[in-house]
Amino acid sequence: MEMNLMRDADLENRSVLLRVDFNVPINGGKISDDTRIRAAIPTINYILERNARLIIISHLGRPTSEREAEFSLKIVAEYLNDLIENKVLFAADTVDEEAKSLVEGLGNGEVLVLENVRYNQEEKANDEEFANKLASFGSVYINDAFGVSHRAHASVVALPKLMEGKAYAGMLLEKELVYANKILANPARPFTAIIGGSKVSDKIGVIKSLLSVVDNLIIGGGMANTFLLAKGYEIGKSLHEAEKLDLAGELIKLAKDKGVNLYLPYDVVTAKEFSANSEPHYFELAEIPDDEMILDIGPKTCEEFADVLNNSRLIVWNGPVGVFEMEAFSVGTRTIAAYLAASNAEVVIGGGDSAAAITQFGYADDMDHISTGGGAFLELMEGKTLPGVAVLHKGEN
Ligand code: 3PG
Repeated sequence: MEMNLMRDADLENRSVLLRVDFNVPINGGKISDDTRIRAAIPTINYILERNARLIIISHLGRPTSEREAEFSLKIVAEYLNDLIENKVLFAADTVDEEAKSLVEGLGNGEVLVLENVRYNQEEKANDEEFANKLASFGSVYINDAFGVSHRAHASVVALPKLMEGKAYAGMLLEKELVYANKILANPARPFTAIIGGSKVSDKIGVIKSLLSVVDNLIIGGGMANTFLLAKGYEIGKSLHEAEKLDLAGELIKLAKDKGVNLYLPYDVVTAKEFSANSEPHYFELAEIPDDEMILDIGPKTCEEFADVLNNSRLIVWNGPVGVFEMEAFSVGTRTIAAYLAASNAEVVIGGGDSAAAITQFGYADDMDHISTGGGAFLELMEGKTLPGVAVLHKGEN
């Protein structure tokens, strides 16, 4: 379905409501990864170049009570002020009288960041009255918050519905959807997906859906253990989901039925304890002792995976293949990241931990696309239409 796009909107001299996902990690009072802020800058500059007044709406974290200071967007507003040339103001509440008068006093080319929209319980309830208050602050709405577009929240769904046809997708959201389409509807072949992370249960939907489009599926990380167990291997005391064994077996069969090559680790790095200080040990799959746990893929597996990646034209990666946060068990994930950086294939990184790993290892600039969505990316890969996107389709608002 066709979508309303920001570049088709008349933004000149307007008050523009921009929903972004500035849900960035903050450690010790500092933003430790600004990827999501930088990803929205092209849209922000595009709007400001049109002499508009820009009102930014975002969430940060998951505050439970009304106002936990650690979730304030003040620090993000200050950061943005340093990042762009235009003046950035901050409203200490999302929709109160003071926020309203700051909106009214905003000059052309100025920016106002509203306080964390999730400080208001109405946000998660997709409350229309609350959305109405936000709607009164501007005449055009743009969603560039891909990372939260799978949530039917007030600033993502109720608000654009109130904009009388003036709700559009920003450049980041559009780019994310273009890449998702390349993966699901129009993939270059051979197409390989690497799916990792700790739990099969988190990725069932995405694996099922990818099995209909990929040529090769590589499974690593903690979730591979459940597949290895389903294939009859002993995995010592490795993390696994006993209740998902049948499902893992079904997915193995589904891969076979669909003619997809399924790759699992066949040598591994283990340890006696789940700790950064544990001594790493190396085993072939059939030799894992009862008191060891798998924490990374081994060198032979890395080589085999590299062969598959070298012969691919499109690669999508979601989830690390080992405990990359611990130096001793980061080699597999680091090696995959290095192969991807050197690859001639089009490489798409599916948000979350894999995006963090790519950034941590310094390869972010070598990727074709790093999705800014975690849950949103997975839902897209499952073939779902995100509620925040559906509402931007022509005729839907
Ligand atoms: C994310 O970090 O995935 C998005 O910002 C959405 O956050 P949420 O999972 O708290 O809705």
